[in-house]
Amino acid sequence: MKKVILESFGLDGLRVVDDAVVEPGPGEVRVRWQAASLNYHDLAAVMGMANPRMPLPQVPLSDGAGVVEAVAADVTGLTPGDVVTSRFFPDWQAGRPTLERLQRVTGETCSGVLRQQQVVTADALLRAPEGMSIQQASTLPCAALTAWRALVVEGKVQPGQRVLIQGSGGVSHWALVFARLLGARTYVTSSSDEKLEQLAALGADELFNYRTQPEWGRAVRRATGGEGVDMVVEVGGAGTLAESLNALAIGGHVSMIGVLTGIASTVPTARIMALNATVKGITVGHADHQRAMYRALDGRDLSVPVSHVLPMADVAEALALMQSGAHFGKICLKLGDS
Ligand SMILES: NC(=O)c1ccc[n+]([C@@H]2O[C@H](COP(=O)([O-])OP(=O)(O)OC[C@H]3O[C@@H](n4cnc5c(N)ncnc54)[C@H](OP(=O)(O)O)[C@@H]3O)[C@@H](O)[C@H]2O)c1
Repeated sequence: MKKVILESFGLDGLRVVDDAVVEPGPGEVRVRWQAASLNYHDLAAVMGMANPRMPLPQVPLSDGAGVVEAVAADVTGLTPGDVVTSRFFPDWQAGRPTLERLQRVTGETCSGVLRQQQVVTADALLRAPEGMSIQQASTLPCAALTAWRALVVEGKVQPGQRVLIQGSGGVSHWALVFARLLGARTYVTSSSDEKLEQLAALGADELFNYRTQPEWGRAVRRATGGEGVDMVVEVGGAGTLAESLNALAIGGHVSMIGVLTGIASTVPTARIMALNATVKGITVGHADHQRAMYRALDGRDLSVPVSHVLPMADVAEALALMQSGAHFGKICLKLGDS
C-alpha cells in the first residue's frame, strides 16, 4: 500500500512512500480509500499557509471516500463493504464549536486521506449517501458540508429567496446545488464568461463577471430590482465583503467562508448596522450536520462537476492546477481501482 506524505511545506515537499497495513484496534475501522478531492484548504495546508505549526511529516487532504475493509469487534454501525467518507473535524460530533472539538483537522493536524488505506476511529467516518459515485462522495466532507451549513443550517434559505454565490470552485458549486434544491434564485459570479455559461447550464439564474464588472455587488442589487439578495456565500473574504454588502438586502445573511482575497480588510461597519445584516463566520460543520446532509442527498441525482481526475502520485500537479484557478468544480485524485 502507498501513501503521500508532506515532508516540508511546498509542492516539492510531497512524496509517495510505502504504508504498512495494520489491524484495527478497539473502536477502530480500516478503510480502503478510493478517491480524494482537493479543497483550497489542502493547498493552503501544503503551502504552510493554513497552519505554519502543522506537524510534519503529514499525510495531506481532508476529503476522501472509500470502502470499509475491517472493523474491530466493538464497532457498531459500520461493516466491511460499506462505502464511507472522511470527516473534516473528526472530534466535532455535535453542538457548539470549541477549541477542543476543532483541534484535530483531517489532513492538517491529523493524518489526511491521501493514502490507499488507513485505520481510524469509527466516528471519523460516515456512511456515504446512496447512489453517488465514489468521486462525488469524496467531494462531500468539506466542500459540500460547508455549503450545506451556510445555506441550510445558518442561512435557513427559503424557497424564492435570493442567494449570491461567488466563483465556480468546490464550495460554490455545492452552494448552487443546495440553493436550487431549496428553491432559491441564484446570482453567481466568476472571473470567466465561459465558466458563467457552464454555471448557467447547471441552473444558475443570473450571471456576473467580477473581472469585467468590478462593481458586481451593485449590479446584483440592480438585478434584484433594488431589493438585494437574502444570502451571500462569501468565499472571497477580505476583498469581496464590501461588494457583497452592496448586494445584500436589509436583514440579509452573509456566510463568511473563504479567504481567497486575503485574511483582513476594513469592515464597513455602518453598512452592516444599517442593513441589520448577519455576518456569520463558519468552519465546515459537525457530524450531525453531515448526517443530515447525507440523508438529503440519499438516492438523489445531485452532484457537482469534477473537471479533473489525476492519479494519487500527481497530487503536486493537481494542487498547482487548483492554484491556477483553471478548474471548474472539483479536482479529484484516484487512490484505488475506481
Ligand atoms: N470556512 C470554511 O469552513 C471553509 C470550507 C471550505 C472552503 N473554505 C474557503 O473557501 C474558499 C473556496 O474554497 P474552495 O475549496 O471552494 O476553492 P476552489 O475550489 O479553489 O474555488 C475557488 C474559486 O473561487 C473563485 N474566486 C477566486 N477569487 C475570487 C474572487 N476574488 N471573487 C470571487 N470568486 C473568486 C474562483 O472562481 P472563478 O474561477 O469562477 O473565478 C475559484 O475557482 C477558500 O478560501 C477556502 O479556504 C472555507
